[in-house]
Amino acid sequence: MSNFKSLPGFREFYPEAFAERRFLFQVWRQVARRFGFQEFDGPVLESLELFKAKSGDEIESQLFCFEDKGGREISLRPELTPTLARMVAAKGNALKRPIKWFSIGDNFRYERMQKGRLRCFTQLNADILGEAGPAAELELISLLIQLIQGFGLGKEDFFIRLSDRNLWMLYLEAQGFESETSKILEIVDKWERMPDEVACEKLSAIAGDRGEALQASIGGFLKVSNLAELSNAFKTVSGGADMGEALQARIDDWSTLLDGFDAMGLSGFVEMDLSIVRGLAYYTGFVFEAFDRAKSNRAIAGGGRYNNLIKKMGGPDMPAVGFGMGDVVLADVLKERGIMPKFVDTIDAYMVIGGEAERAVALADANALRQSGFSVDYPLKTSGFGKQFKMASASGARVALIYGSEELEKGVVKLRDMTDRSEEEVPRERLILALRDRLR
Ligand code: HAM
Repeated sequence: MSNFKSLPGFREFYPEAFAERRFLFQVWRQVARRFGFQEFDGPVLESLELFKAKSGDEIESQLFCFEDKGGREISLRPELTPTLARMVAAKGNALKRPIKWFSIGDNFRYERMQKGRLRCFTQLNADILGEAGPAAELELISLLIQLIQGFGLGKEDFFIRLSDRNLWMLYLEAQGFESETSKILEIVDKWERMPDEVACEKLSAIAGDRGEALQASIGGFLKVSNLAELSNAFKTVSGGADMGEALQARIDDWSTLLDGFDAMGLSGFVEMDLSIVRGLAYYTGFVFEAFDRAKSNRAIAGGGRYNNLIKKMGGPDMPAVGFGMGDVVLADVLKERGIMPKFVDTIDAYMVIGGEAERAVALADANALRQSGFSVDYPLKTSGFGKQFKMASASGARVALIYGSEELEKGVVKLRDMTDRSEEEVPRERLILALRDRLR
């Protein structure tokens, strides 16, 4: 056993685990391409300033940051969104809109470790920039649904909780708390895990003697699960009626989005749930998270609209919406349901070599076959036939190629099909064609 251990929260991928990871990435990539998204990436190391300013307090406390040898304050990226925003801002209006980009890459957060939370994890990010209307949300959330369906999960397994920071703003503004919205939403973000007394205490620190009333009105708003209930909730608060026009415009956006889900046959996947407000500081409108219906896992994915970030990065005024999906929770869900495939790396052919005299011929053929695109392996040391056939089986090869002295004297190679054990002799010069036929 080595004295050295990997750091807590950093995984090692032995080949079987690596194959699972490759599988996740393949599905992510295929589905994102189906929706016309283009792949990109940015640096994993950035200036600390980028995340301090943009990601918000919670992430700031989790940064893997340090000073480099040039005295720069730098940080591993905890998320991709600030980098994406900077990259788009740098090109200004030169990029053709809408911009539909995706990326698969590692992120680093110094988190308290728990189920579904590591310190290095891989995220798929998908973002649409340059579209202000809910058509962008529809496109992204339908992508998110197909991504999860791509792993064999259905309506009965997962769902999207859809919420809206705009509605929260209007609701809090109606009650006169427009300058305290971020602080209040931070409390709402932790509502499910927070005892009532603690919530009341925190709200009273913001709203004084109106703390209890605010707690009750938040409690009521959190129960809203459709647009009719939403209008009613506004009627119950003091300044609700003043929000008429703005509220109606927002209800229209919701209707457009919900009608879109209907048209795509996706309504069964989406639930209105105002308890989702998202911890990151830059979100401005619709926000959403994907969850396992059993709710035993943390969010599979989360995202939302962030209309101000590109401008804050010095770019044009450009609306944006996107989400990130991590590999950790997703793999947990697939394993819990027993639908993570078992992967075995196989090859086309394994060579069984009679002795040193036959090795040179076998090596020449191995090289030629590999150059023609076959995957081929052979024993690095000469040993008995029995042992070599065992190695051929263990390699998962479809075919064993036998290079014995008798065969080579006749100018042939014996080809053994490892599935049905049938054998044929093939002239060496026809080997490539024969192998291609056999593997077809
Ligand atoms: P986020 O909610 O912080 O959003 O992360 C999105 C997903 O990444 C989570 O739902 C979870 O699956 C995974 N994840 C986050 N932290 C960890 C962790 N420590 N260990 C394992 N998995 C984790 C964002 O990162 C936003 N930047 C997403 C976004 C893109 N918004 C707009 N565009």
